[in-house]
Amino acid sequence: MQGIELSFLYFLSAFLAAGNSVKDFPTSMISGGQNVFPHDFPWQASIQFHTGHHFCGGALIDSYWLLTAAHCMEQHQPNQIRVVLGEHTLSEIEGTEQYRNISRIVISPFFNVVRPEYNYYMPYDLALLELTTPANLNSFVKPISLPDPNKSYSGRSCILTGWGNTGVNADGADVLQMAEIKTLENRVCGDTWGYYIYYGNICVYTYGVAPCQGDSGGPLMCLDNNGYVLAGISSWDDTDCKDHPSIYTRVTENLGWINDVIDNDGHN
Ligand SMILES: *[C@@H]1O[C@H](CO)[C@@H](O)[C@H](O)[C@H]1NC(C)=O
Ligand SMILES: *[C@@H]1O[C@H](CO)[C@@H](O)[C@H](O)[C@H]1NC(C)=O
Repeated sequence: MQGIELSFLYFLSAFLAAGNSVKDFPTSMISGGQNVFPHDFPWQASIQFHTGHHFCGGALIDSYWLLTAAHCMEQHQPNQIRVVLGEHTLSEIEGTEQYRNISRIVISPFFNVVRPEYNYYMPYDLALLELTTPANLNSFVKPISLPDPNKSYSGRSCILTGWGNTGVNADGADVLQMAEIKTLENRVCGDTWGYYIYYGNICVYTYGVAPCQGDSGGPLMCLDNNGYVLAGISSWDDTDCKDHPSIYTRVTENLGWINDVIDNDGHN
């Protein structure tokens, strides 16, 4: 597996040397996905520019709040972006969409904080977006539950969704895609990615299935007692969107921060 790690390192250093920022690092699309049944995942959000261009996913966790990846947000101001809820086909107005502007982007205070003794890549890649007006909750728009802090969600079959690219050289999906994927123990993921992986990650791998560019910030959902919970947020993976584990931000490691921001937002 060392070859994989070396090629990743080569890619990353060439990428940074070319003057690119980490934000542009291609986390891949869902390749190997299929159309979702409309509104089966009513917390899924499309994060867009005001032109309607989709660039990242997110998950509604409260009528005012969305979770997404920090790397999606670090170069944007709240007034540059909008959120579309109740969306299924991006190119069509289906009557279920709710368009919301953003009043605040709150990036995790630990995002990308360098720990010299480790090589973690993009640690704490998560951000909260506050909607200027709350979502109207209905059968098309509904928050997802946060995960149980005592569960690892490793070694399971879970689901990822997004409008990201459907292959390395393919365009983004117009219809929301889903795929079933296995969550790994971090130790197993470390066989491929070494010290890029830390306890705040949750890795997924099923051959031929992976998130891809445009899926970043989108949810990894696992079934728990009472339905789906948000186990992860799409962060990064290899460029081929296919045959290496993909990395998500582990939500259970961030519950304290998430609850702290939401509990102090001034809304009821
Ligand atoms: C959302 O923001 C855009 C761009 O600033 C603005 O044109 C639009 O009127 C805003 N919509 C609402 C509902 O405030
Ligand atoms: C998690 O475990 C702790 C300690 O065993 C327990 O007090 C707490 O209630 C558990 N939390 C949940 C959500 O089950």
